[in-house]
Amino acid sequence: MQTLLRGRHLITTQEWTRDELDTVLEVARDLKRRRALGEPHALLRDKVLAMLFFFSSTRTRASFEAGMAQLGGHAQFIESASTQIAHGDTATEIGEILGRYNDGLAIRQVDWGVGNAYQRAVAAASRVPVLNMQCDRFHPFQALADLLTIVERHPDPRGATINVSWAYASSYQKPLSVPQSLILLMTRYGLNVRLTHPPEFRLQPDLMQQARDNAAVAGGSFEVLDDFDAGFVDADIVYPKSWGCMLSTPDLEESAAIGARYRDWIADERRLALARRDAMYLHCLPADRGVEVTDAVIDGPNSAVFDEAENRLHVQKAVMALTM
Ligand code: CP
Repeated sequence: MQTLLRGRHLITTQEWTRDELDTVLEVARDLKRRRALGEPHALLRDKVLAMLFFFSSTRTRASFEAGMAQLGGHAQFIESASTQIAHGDTATEIGEILGRYNDGLAIRQVDWGVGNAYQRAVAAASRVPVLNMQCDRFHPFQALADLLTIVERHPDPRGATINVSWAYASSYQKPLSVPQSLILLMTRYGLNVRLTHPPEFRLQPDLMQQARDNAAVAGGSFEVLDDFDAGFVDADIVYPKSWGCMLSTPDLEESAAIGARYRDWIADERRLALARRDAMYLHCLPADRGVEVTDAVIDGPNSAVFDEAENRLHVQKAVMALTM
């Protein structure tokens, strides 16, 4: 267990050691147990987290804010649109100034080619930890919550097969950050990771290489498929969700048209039946119901989406308690 995480940024799990990530899971489980028992755990009394959002959120905002209150501190919600960022506040100024008011800065900035660089620039200027609430490349807290949900069912997840699959959605071009963080973290823990997507929906090459390297170190595997059904076969965990084809075209209309060629990539009962009988269905939410996944699957007995959403709270509290 690592005891010196105070002051650390969390922008991608790849920058934390396995031992440090194990510490997060251990603390998250402890905080989950303490909340279930009604035990007070005001570990961040008098501390304040700034939550800066450039993009909408349900779970992330609600769970960070609730988490800070449960830890005895306070979270301030700041929307970029109602700040002076639009009138020129730079990333350096945000890091310097909000870092002086707060004990941690959490940021969601998912604009393609912008979000991660923005977070890095804020972090470089901040005297307090910067926590990535999702950027264009990573969604580390989602992947940590997913991992906690998996190890609750598979205490030793090595050798379990997870299918991280693209699925069709019509609502908007979702960021690449969830599948990218998943392939990075699940390969660290020795799972057999399948990434399934149509050719146009590839992920960023540097992160694909990191996933391959992780699998080689941890002893799992990393393979890429382009057949939606094949991805489900004998999987222990299925995670079909949509993302945009940013690496194929910057044009949103063209991207939507490309996606529409794969309308039949919907997680339905026939596909789920190809996986192991007790396979766990995960989705970070929000899902396009009836498009990305059928109600029968997302509301069915294999679905763990509510436990998964709950675990956002526990892993975030763990990281905040350890770093702030
Ligand atoms: N999964 C997730 O990050 O949800 P929100 O976009 O609602 O925060």
